[in-house]
Amino acid sequence: MKGIILAGGSGTRLHPATLVVNKQLLPVYDKPMVYYPLSTLMLAGIREVLIISTPEFLPQYRALFGDGSTLGLSIEYAEQARPEGLPQAFTIGRDFIAGGKVAMVLGDNIFFGNGLVDLLRRAVMRPYGATVFAYRVEDPERYGVIAFGDRRRVIDIVEKPVVAPSNYAVTGFYVFDHRVCDFAAALTPSSRGETEIVDLARRYLDLGELHVEQMGRGYAWLDTGTHDSLLEASEFVRTIQHRQGIQIACLEEIAYLQGFITREQAAVRGRLFAKTAYGRAILSAIEN
Ligand code: G1P
Repeated sequence: MKGIILAGGSGTRLHPATLVVNKQLLPVYDKPMVYYPLSTLMLAGIREVLIISTPEFLPQYRALFGDGSTLGLSIEYAEQARPEGLPQAFTIGRDFIAGGKVAMVLGDNIFFGNGLVDLLRRAVMRPYGATVFAYRVEDPERYGVIAFGDRRRVIDIVEKPVVAPSNYAVTGFYVFDHRVCDFAAALTPSSRGETEIVDLARRYLDLGELHVEQMGRGYAWLDTGTHDSLLEASEFVRTIQHRQGIQIACLEEIAYLQGFITREQAAVRGRLFAKTAYGRAILSAIEN
């Protein structure tokens, strides 16, 4: 399966920090934000990735990841000249997707948790339909929200409702089958002038082919949309990394453990970053 990272947007809620830096390149503790969603795709077993960003910032992503070969990936890039909604990723990415299944992760979404790999892989393995992940939050109005009917049957998904039908937000990791490009092309803009990812998901719901997986306790889904939530995400990453002596979203470590790169390739990268805990994690992964 292929994967898309959508890293566009103007980051106005993070001004002035994002005046000349793309939001998804800001650090979350010790690494660029985009490392986290890329690690999520890699943990799902995805090696062919398309990064979509604005014409202004796309060159920085190219400089960061190149063709992806240092991570054993194939990374391509595409411009989103004007933001017209998340489903636009599937019109921009139509050639890349080439009629197959695709996972999309938003460039500002951070996932962490034991069992994440199994949860993601289960979604990626499904031959048909779409999968979204529901996560309990205190402030569902800020997100796409699931509406449940009898016996917790999913009856609707609504974008940023004034009164939320539940506390279950839809995270920014989605898996769609081969129909996604056609469905996305047929969407009409909502009242806020953009096509909506919830409308795309609803298309599958109407067909009875939407899987809503719950990300329960034991998972962290972190938001980085405001200065406070960005700092909180950094604090979370720092706390876990310090306490456990592990790295979250160490891409070379993941690539090595998944067999995407050789021991020697990992060692080169580890030595490059040897002055940091990030580099030492790579070196220790190849020693153990
Ligand atoms: C987007 C989606 C929303 C989803 C959220 C997850 O919102 O539209 O449905 O819950 O991502 O991060 P945005 O962050 O673009 O406002």
